[in-house]
Amino acid sequence: MILSCKRGIIVLLNSALTYLITATCACLKLASSIFLFNVKVLERKDNKMKIRGIIMDKYIINGGNPLKGEVVISGAKNAAVAIVAATILCDEPCVLENVPEISDISICLKILREMGATVQVTGKNTVYFDTTGIHNPVVPYDLARSMRASSYFLGTLLGRFHEAYVPMPGGCDLGDRPIDQHLKAFKSLGASDDMHAGVVHVHCDELYGGQIYFDFITVGATINAIFAGVKAKGLTVIENAAKEPHIVDLANFLNSMGADIRGAGTDVIKIRGVNKLKGITYAVIPDQIEAGTYMVMAAATRGDVLVKNVIPKHLESITAKLRKIGVTVDEFDESVRVCVEPNVRFTKTSVKTMPHPGFPTDMQPQLSTLLTLADGTSIVTDDIFENRFRYVAELRRMGADISVDGKVAIIQGVGKLIGAPVRATDLRAGAAMVIAGLAAEGQTIIDDIFHIERGYENIDLKVQALGGDMVKRYFPDLNAQAISG
Ligand code: EPU
Repeated sequence: MILSCKRGIIVLLNSALTYLITATCACLKLASSIFLFNVKVLERKDNKMKIRGIIMDKYIINGGNPLKGEVVISGAKNAAVAIVAATILCDEPCVLENVPEISDISICLKILREMGATVQVTGKNTVYFDTTGIHNPVVPYDLARSMRASSYFLGTLLGRFHEAYVPMPGGCDLGDRPIDQHLKAFKSLGASDDMHAGVVHVHCDELYGGQIYFDFITVGATINAIFAGVKAKGLTVIENAAKEPHIVDLANFLNSMGADIRGAGTDVIKIRGVNKLKGITYAVIPDQIEAGTYMVMAAATRGDVLVKNVIPKHLESITAKLRKIGVTVDEFDESVRVCVEPNVRFTKTSVKTMPHPGFPTDMQPQLSTLLTLADGTSIVTDDIFENRFRYVAELRRMGADISVDGKVAIIQGVGKLIGAPVRATDLRAGAAMVIAGLAAEGQTIIDDIFHIERGYENIDLKVQALGGDMVKRYFPDLNAQAISG
């Protein structure tokens, strides 16, 4: 009796102890989760950067509202990332205006700061740069890996220091993205390259002007060739150059500082190297792709939107396709109005992406989304990158009828999309999901929105101002916390 009573007490004590340990562990885990969550939220508030895997931000969209009103387009991401990198070539402080508040830019600014530059955000979209404090041509590994445009530091550091160490650039997963043409351009101007542990090293004793012929049209390599050519001795001629608006903007920025670049915007660019570049204040051009995205958003929701602060000439290929589909586009000096007349049905069309002035690959996912709402079968060809149709699987979850064969997508119009949980598989794919969600019936929840925040300033707020029901929500990523714990 006494023995069984003792055993009972021991069992009771054991269970109490187990309970206590379990409860303490649970509390500790919860506390560490809350701590981690808050720390990461704070980090994000400071840098406006998404920290993947700890917090899952999602956009929640309730579709069906026609977007109406006005939207102001921000500075161009792809111009700004090049121009920010170009401040390394400047011998004096300079100021950039109309710099978009997006995470790709936050990373560029962080790279410059970590290398020793003084970078201050002095007002909304205005940034002061003094890069004279940079003495070491080495780009921090993790920051460079998260962005394609980090390759631009190869050209600017090579131009200034005759040497650069830059980790192989990351960016949107659009398939293999080699930099052989960048290195070929540097070689034509007298530089050598090697790679060690994922870091590209380019170097020379002196850069000399030379002839560069690109095997195919490449935006990034054209920009890097310009950077090196600006500081090379003598004349550099770039043939088969890319003609995108951001290349012209970059050349205008460098010329305002004292560079001598002619022919930007054509396929032959001539550069006479200079020794010094002076400090200036310069405003980045409006973003062609952000503007195009809002134009398609207005069309897909059958809304009526005035897209302001744009250069309509840069939008011509997008405007032409929208008109062919049945959308009304009116052009003004610095804005375009996009609306859909009441009884108009969208018409199928074929699209092939091309370098500028052709239809941009960065608008292909958005336009394809609109084509899912058109009558008939549309054919979309995009062979600029290896893999720009990853969003298709997500759109199918919303009822789209699309088949992909290599670089060609065949879109059978379905008339309407139905909201679903989807993922932003890359930046422009994410923009396509936003358009699909706004046009769809019901609720769409978009995951991995850090891709979208790489290139769209305050997209949720801009959509809300147009009457769209779209909000951002933070969710703790329980899996990541379990791993962290
Ligand atoms: N390519 C090579 N070797 C090179 C360079 C490019 O094979 O040395 C290939 C690429 O893999 C691709 C094609 O050439 O298949 C074109 O690439 P390009 O160099 O023109 O593109 P990028 O400089 O890597 C920029 C934009 C992209 C945009 C493309 C095309 C920036 C930071 N990125 O990329 O923007 O799609 O030009 O217009 O400017 C985006 O904003 O969503 C985006 C992906």
